[in-house]
Amino acid sequence: MFITFEGIEGCGKSTQSRMVLDHLQQRGVSTLWTRQPGGCHLGVRLRSLLLGREGEGLTPLSELFLYLADRAQHVAQVIRPALAAGTVVLCDRFTDSTVAYQGYGRGLDVSLIHQLNTVAVDGCWPDLTLILDLPVETGLARARSRNADQGQTEAEGRFEAEEAAFHQRIRDGYLALAAENPSRYIVIPADGAPEEVFGRVWPTVCSRLEIIEQQ
Ligand code: TMP
Repeated sequence: MFITFEGIEGCGKSTQSRMVLDHLQQRGVSTLWTRQPGGCHLGVRLRSLLLGREGEGLTPLSELFLYLADRAQHVAQVIRPALAAGTVVLCDRFTDSTVAYQGYGRGLDVSLIHQLNTVAVDGCWPDLTLILDLPVETGLARARSRNADQGQTEAEGRFEAEEAAFHQRIRDGYLALAAENPSRYIVIPADGAPEEVFGRVWPTVCSRLEIIEQQ
């Protein structure tokens, strides 16, 4: 089972996906948490390039190809072998981030991105994608205060620095994807405390994995 977590900056997907990891591991389910960019050796190097100062001069097209390079390597080296071993894979961002950010956000052709994603993942599509949805202002406020706390302003703040309209297009893009394919995507309202949001995430995951919770 391959589950991806998506959403705008500050939506809480990393927190939620790690909470799912903990809960699955507590129940003895073999689970791997990973992310894009940065889930393999190449990805770690691409992440600092893409999200840091060095990435400032990238054209939208070269940025797109770097995310795709990370994806192709990560699928081949990490995700596909884990799935083949029967491990549940939780991935913080995947193909839909490229559609939302480089397509809806940067304005590159969405159908071209879909074709390139298809090549990069080579059949390894998510079974379930949770889109953590919340208003752009709420997400950006969360992301900025987190970055300030972690001193990440320069290292990883390139996307948070974009204007609100950019993030609104991304949110709209995610919602359009979900509307097109309701069997793969579940939109989860992401405002509220982490435990409150988890109360919406966990039942969805349990039902897909056929885990029956004791009341
Ligand atoms: P995050 O790990 O904090 O979500 O940061 C990853 C950043 O990279 C985030 O701003 C979204 C961006 N991104 C893209 O623009 N395209 C992609 O394909 C992926 C995976 C991430």
